Amino acid sequence: MDFFANKTVYITGGSSGIGLAAAHALAQRGAHLVLLARDKKKLDSAAASLRSSARSSAQKIETFIADVADAPRAEKALAKAVRACGAPDILINSAGAGYFGAFTDTPPEIFQRIFKTNVFGTQGVNHVLVPVMKEKGGIIVNVSSLGGLIGMYGYSAYGGSKYAVVGMSEAMRAELAPQGIRVQVLCPPEVDTPMVREERASITPEALAVKLMAGQLTVDQVARVLLRGIERGSFIIIPGFLARSTWVLSRFFPRFSRKVSDLVLKMNRK
Ligand SMILES: NC(=O)c1ccc[n+]([C@@H]2O[C@H](COP(=O)([O-])OP(=O)(O)OC[C@H]3O[C@@H](n4cnc5c(N)ncnc54)[C@H](OP(=O)(O)O)[C@@H]3O)[C@@H](O)[C@H]2O)c1
Repeated sequence: MDFFANKTVYITGGSSGIGLAAAHALAQRGAHLVLLARDKKKLDSAAASLRSSARSSAQKIETFIADVADAPRAEKALAKAVRACGAPDILINSAGAGYFGAFTDTPPEIFQRIFKTNVFGTQGVNHVLVPVMKEKGGIIVNVSSLGGLIGMYGYSAYGGSKYAVVGMSEAMRAELAPQGIRVQVLCPPEVDTPMVREERASITPEALAVKLMAGQLTVDQVARVLLRGIERGSFIIIPGFLARSTWVLSRFFPRFSRKVSDLVLKMNRK
């Protein structure tokens, strides 16, 4: 029996990028899917494409409009989803907002918007669904970033929010394990998605050079590693050899790792 067959998987941000690729991989493995995002058109087109990935017509693919940054409305949408589809066996919190910009050029409103989606959005969805998941147990994957493990040039708002997601996930892991809920955190390097394509308009050459030291992956590569990570149960899931090596280097040799990063920035500064 496939690990994911007949499991009900909720994916916030399931209509695009990493969330959508994970949904396709899960549909191929026989999972029922519940996608949540803001844009109905994107949700509809994701659901239509997922039907062709599904292993059987008995697999449910449902969508719900929800803005995770709007807690009261998101709570209503999640309650509706639970009434219609039951509690999640697996919850993937992939909804997120990106932003590139130097700290001094980043207005407070941007910090607030990024934290509202990435931190409070993830917290809010977990706040509603953890009590619902307690009865039968389950798995939660919070999507952070390699930028949530390593401080990166130009990502004070985004990286700060993703560090918060890692910290929150660490605490949730320890607290929820005795209650039958496993918490994991996905930390990918750069992944080719609409979010990153949009970022290309503002990112500077030196920031791009230092970021790409950790490699760039496709959404399908990330989805493959994510599903393997869920099956294995490892707390931190870092897709990509270069990304894992960058993390190990920064963890065990932080001074050296900062020196290399500063040097790459200097060499690529115009
Ligand atoms: N791409 C990368 O390089 C990269 C690297 C590391 C981590 N990540 C993280 O991976 C996750 C997915 O990013 P992605 O690159 O796949 O981006 P993406 O292709 O832009 O997808 C983002 C998804 O989140 C949804 N979303 C955004 N804001 C939302 C909100 N307030 N409420 C509900 N849904 C919302 C979007 O749909 P709507 O716009 O319709 O709401 C979309 O489905 C994010 O958490 C991101 O930070 C990405």
